[in-house]
Amino acid sequence: MRDAPAIPILPTVAALRAASATWRRAGEAIGFVPTMGALHEGHLTLVRQARAQCRRVVVSIFVNPTQFGPNSDFARYPRDLAADIAKLATVGVDAVFAPDVGEMYPDGFATTVTVAGLTDGLCGPHRPGHFAGVATVVSKLLLQCQADAAYFGEKDWQQLQVVRRLARDLDIPVRIEGVPTVREADGLAMSSRNFYLSPDERQRATVLYRTLSAMAAELAGGAPAAPAIARGFAALSKAGFDPVDYLSVVEAESLQPAARVTGPCRIAVAAWLGKTRLIDNVAVAPGA
Ligand code: PAJ
Repeated sequence: MRDAPAIPILPTVAALRAASATWRRAGEAIGFVPTMGALHEGHLTLVRQARAQCRRVVVSIFVNPTQFGPNSDFARYPRDLAADIAKLATVGVDAVFAPDVGEMYPDGFATTVTVAGLTDGLCGPHRPGHFAGVATVVSKLLLQCQADAAYFGEKDWQQLQVVRRLARDLDIPVRIEGVPTVREADGLAMSSRNFYLSPDERQRATVLYRTLSAMAAELAGGAPAAPAIARGFAALSKAGFDPVDYLSVVEAESLQPAARVTGPCRIAVAAWLGKTRLIDNVAVAPGA
């Protein structure tokens, strides 16, 4: 069998625009999957969905410094472009956009995109500046790639809502597609940050999804959120999560707290195991 042709790696915005313009002229739909690399099955599922819906697929790999806090894991974030490219080759991708920091933020860069309201709760207060960093880089990436559709994981539910809103508010001509969370066999949501967990922490991490699932079953029946949240907090603390940044029941689109589940909601959590911060969320709707 012949080797698959190498995936073109585009380091500049100009090269990305040229590729995308060629495909657009040929009338080929472009699907775009923005990532920070350290690719796992969750990312590859986004790529497969893009592949299924679009003739051309572009994946960006850029560890965006502006969305990391001053003492966070930017420096130790896993980077292995060759391994990422090898994984993407198994799925089939037309180009990888891999700019360096200077290409994305040249000297004099001065513009920030902020999305008000949606970033007030959940991760917002715990990660000051994070969503401005995400919103700014995603706005740039969407404008650079000029894709027909862009794919984002429900794993980062608040991020998905922020991206939907900025695309709508800024009239960026792209369809935003949300993709359900991909989980390990024991329920843990796949994440690049799972690699940081010790074997013991990895074991205890399963409590996160179990807790969310138990709460969803209870709240779907119409139970009030507050006691369920209190029990969930206790279960997480018992499993060694410390601190639990938040465990919240929110309306799915507005992200406003819900006292009971009377429409589509999300139960969302962020909690620390040792030095690792994990997030997860599940859907809950009345009677579902
Ligand atoms: P990253 O954490 O690399 O994630 C890239 C995309 O993969 C995001 O849309 C994320 O929600 C999705 N994803 C991650 N784990 C997933 C899982 N288990 N199941 C389904 N989808 C999953 O999110 C970012 O990068 C950055 O903030 C980015 C949007 C690229 C901007 O820098």
